[in-house]
Amino acid sequence: MRDGQTIGLGSGRAATMLVKELCAADLEQIRCVPTSLQIKTAAEAAGLPLVEPDQVSNIDVAFDGADQIDMHGFLVKGGGGALLRENIVFDMANKVYVIADASKFVKTLNMPIPVEVHPAARALVAHRIVEVGGKPTLRKLDRGYPLFTENGNIIFDCDFGRIHYPKRLARNIASIGGVMGVGLFVNKKPHIYKARGRSYEEIRF
Ligand code: A5P
Repeated sequence: MRDGQTIGLGSGRAATMLVKELCAADLEQIRCVPTSLQIKTAAEAAGLPLVEPDQVSNIDVAFDGADQIDMHGFLVKGGGGALLRENIVFDMANKVYVIADASKFVKTLNMPIPVEVHPAARALVAHRIVEVGGKPTLRKLDRGYPLFTENGNIIFDCDFGRIHYPKRLARNIASIGGVMGVGLFVNKKPHIYKARGRSYEEIRF
């Protein structure tokens, strides 16, 4: 991180930890691009200058966490529901750094894939997910109401079992009408670090 840079902020605990480190680094003239209200409020509290994603077309460096990471460096993201904006920031960033603890690393991705869907496409997407071999579950809040993302969409967590071809699956899901975001991040290889207590080990794929 350097003075004057535009910095993408992912969402979740790892990203929040990095917000604290950014604050401590006391950099001048940086601007931070948040991916959710969660990280935006954390950055505001830390006094970091913010700019919305639609005001920038390029980010120098982005920091984020992940829900699962396979042996090729492909990621599952969206456990916190911020996948659509996280994906925008990933795409804009020249460099992406992902930090996750050891529990997130697996040989083959096997957790349900979050898929953000326009509400009008609820039945269509559920049907097509089944056709491509998945089992979609509408994400709900504690009391049973559906979760709506910050973009006004719903999320299906789609169980595909073990995912041997993440790129192909991501393409197939993204091609369904009304799919706004897929929590399989396969288009860009980030720098990935495994957190060990307060230190980080870079994992090379
Ligand atoms: C937000 O939707 C997610 O993609 C998070 O980045 C992911 O869940 C990692 O979060 P933690 O750092 O809190 O584990």
